[in-house]
Amino acid sequence: MWDPQVQEYFDYVLPLVKKSGEELLTAENYEVETKGFVYDLVTIYDRKIEEILIKKIKEKWPNHKFIGEEESEINGIKKLTDEPTWIIDPIDGTANFVRGLKITCVSIGLVIKKVQTMGIVYNPFLDELYTAIKGQGAFLNGKRICTNGQTDITKSIFNYEISIARRPNYYDLYMYRFKHLIKVIMGFRSLGCAVLGLCYVADGRLDAYQCDGLYPWDAAAGVLIVREAGGYVCDSRGKEFNLMDPNFLATSTKALSDQFMIIERKADEERLNDRNSTKSEKTNT
Ligand code: IPD
Ligand code: CA
Ligand code: CA
Ligand code: CA
Repeated sequence: MWDPQVQEYFDYVLPLVKKSGEELLTAENYEVETKGFVYDLVTIYDRKIEEILIKKIKEKWPNHKFIGEEESEINGIKKLTDEPTWIIDPIDGTANFVRGLKITCVSIGLVIKKVQTMGIVYNPFLDELYTAIKGQGAFLNGKRICTNGQTDITKSIFNYEISIARRPNYYDLYMYRFKHLIKVIMGFRSLGCAVLGLCYVADGRLDAYQCDGLYPWDAAAGVLIVREAGGYVCDSRGKEFNLMDPNFLATSTKALSDQFMIIERKADEERLNDRNSTKSEKTNT
């Protein structure tokens, strides 16, 4: 049902997100720092955009809560309460941004009473604005979007973030998963921007996107946009998606997700068998 209060939030925040994104178009001569790991980059723009979004929203609604990537770096990731909470990724795809790869966006999601209620994503380089309000559909530059309705895994393109350095615990899982999947699907992509990966499932450019070990800000806006575009989102093992621990599979259709889970079970079986035979080899020597 249309909610005038949510509409007011949307109308206020949308221009702020667009303006923040436009700042990136003129960015030059800025420093690229790391947050402790070589792959974890941050710029003045990441910090500035998040600060401005929080400041402007707080001015209007002082009681609202925030979970932003950069402030979580200092304060830790806060628990989700029933209060309206804005979940912000000031730049998703910072590594793309600093290299001039135009797969970068500003992303903000709103969660009310723990329900994902709104998502706004703007890629200034392509002037693409994705929006969704729960129950009202998903839009790209104001035009309604739907997933491509793909139900055949053999015709599917899957997006993955294949950056194992960030996720060493997933190495084994990924190797077996990819080995099985590569024989079946049409192709893999790795875009380096979780939020746009989700938006591209929503608008039918991609059929599926899976990622493990992400953060709420990587998924808050995009997951709602996929769902509002008619797509299906579950956690990576087929269970319910949890925004505060986002491992997810987002697909054009539930049928595609079901086909993926069959492959995942085969990969799991092989992984387990290999592990058991390595163990018994070790005990025999
Ligand atoms: C990253 C991107 C990337 C994903 C990383 C994220 P950031 O976000 O979404 O696609 O593989 O895990 O951290 O740091 O550019 O906001
Ligand atoms: Ca980051
Ligand atoms: Ca991110
Ligand atoms: Ca970021």
